[in-house]
Amino acid sequence: AIEKTFIMVKPDGVKRQVVGDIIDRFERRGFELKGAKLINVPRELAEEHYAEHKERPFFGELVEFITSGPVFAMVWEGENVIKLARIMMGATKPEESQPGTIRGDYAVTISENVIHGSDSPASAEREISLWFGEGLA
Ligand code: CMP
Repeated sequence: AIEKTFIMVKPDGVKRQVVGDIIDRFERRGFELKGAKLINVPRELAEEHYAEHKERPFFGELVEFITSGPVFAMVWEGENVIKLARIMMGATKPEESQPGTIRGDYAVTISENVIHGSDSPASAEREISLWFGEGLA
């Protein structure tokens, strides 16, 4: 089915200037860009975005990191894009992310891992409305 997903280049990815490469990978795969913005994440938005991790020991670190510099938030549309984007991103654990994937090519830690992508249709819907509201192409 044609879906939309929320993809975010995290502060480490913006600093390392891999936004262009990540956009390129999604465009080459055939997905369509429906929204994009570079933003400094307000603390409340960070906490809401990561609400499901609130009880985890690394929650504080997660919020600190995502608010530490601008992120590049995007909405991509296409066939099965939610699952395919997760495969393009690679695994969260650095020792499991394959070369050729975004994390496998760029990341060596579990926390500074360059990119976030929605993990299910329900998260995609929640995250798109949280980050973009009605403001999509
Ligand atoms: P993300 O896909 O943005 O969603 C939750 C994030 O939590 C995940 O990427 C990781 O960056 C982060 N994360 C998961 N496990 C740990 C951990 N053990 N320590 C620090 N951060 C973690």
